[in-house]
Amino acid sequence: MSDDGRSTTGPLPVAALDDPHLAPYAKRPQAVAAAAAISMVIGIIGIIGFGVAFWVGNQTQWQAATLGVGLFGLGFGVAAWGKYLMPQGPFVEERHDFHSTDDERDAMSAAVVERGGLVVKRRKVLGGLFALGSAVFGVVAAFPLLRSLGPKPGRTLFVTNWRAGSRVVTVDGRRVRPSDLEVGGVLTVFPQGHEGNSPDQTILIRLQAGQEPVVLESPGRSDWTVHGIVGYSKMCTHLGCPVGLYQEQTTELVCPCHQSVFNVRAGAVPQFGPAPRPLPQLPLAVDAAGYLVSSGGYDQPVGPGFWERP
Ligand code: FES
Repeated sequence: MSDDGRSTTGPLPVAALDDPHLAPYAKRPQAVAAAAAISMVIGIIGIIGFGVAFWVGNQTQWQAATLGVGLFGLGFGVAAWGKYLMPQGPFVEERHDFHSTDDERDAMSAAVVERGGLVVKRRKVLGGLFALGSAVFGVVAAFPLLRSLGPKPGRTLFVTNWRAGSRVVTVDGRRVRPSDLEVGGVLTVFPQGHEGNSPDQTILIRLQAGQEPVVLESPGRSDWTVHGIVGYSKMCTHLGCPVGLYQEQTTELVCPCHQSVFNVRAGAVPQFGPAPRPLPQLPLAVDAAGYLVSSGGYDQPVGPGFWERP
């Protein structure tokens, strides 16, 4: 006999299914099950939304928000399921005979169908939703692999839209004269017709008199500047961040991502940080109307030097 007076020997009584220890912790299990199911469905929608945002790209805020909703929804549903719908216990293993009579088995089967069927069915739904959510998450997690199987980029990563005679314009399409830049000023420009195109982004810097570039790496660049204005690719050669911080006193460009420092007067060679090579330089000229144009394209690919990797 146990402490609570229940028999510790003999077959497990059918009435044990009514044991309050086996009842769900929640007072209203059906409501909790519905809430858990709704939470999981929201989670699944969130993960699908994350997949869409990832596939479309350039929407990091949406990716973070949808992934957060997805994981929180699934997690909340599973937690509610485990905490409030499982038997609350505590459980004590009763000692009893290790065999049942046929009558007892029949009675148990009838009792399970009659009394436990609803609970079993409800948990099947939750289990199915959790499995569906896990499957959706698995598919979405494979998106980076699926995207990598797209068409090859070809030469698009090696050449930009800068050509000899390309008109230099701002992001809103306005042409640029040398006098538009004050000494020490910087301006982000693009080739006309490709405003806002990332690989084409170029930073113009107007140096002070006497600060003209001392090009160490490529002496042939002596005529690539006009009126003290020098142009470099704005894509960092480390991981491609925009290199937009210019320190006039030291004539250095700084990448805000990992603090690579480029020497503007020395062909933008990296002086500090993880960038492995100089920023490509754009040869500049002035056309007959007095506007800036490029006298050629970049002499090397812009951005991270992925092609140099073994
Ligand atoms: S991306 Fe510029 S230093 Fe890393």
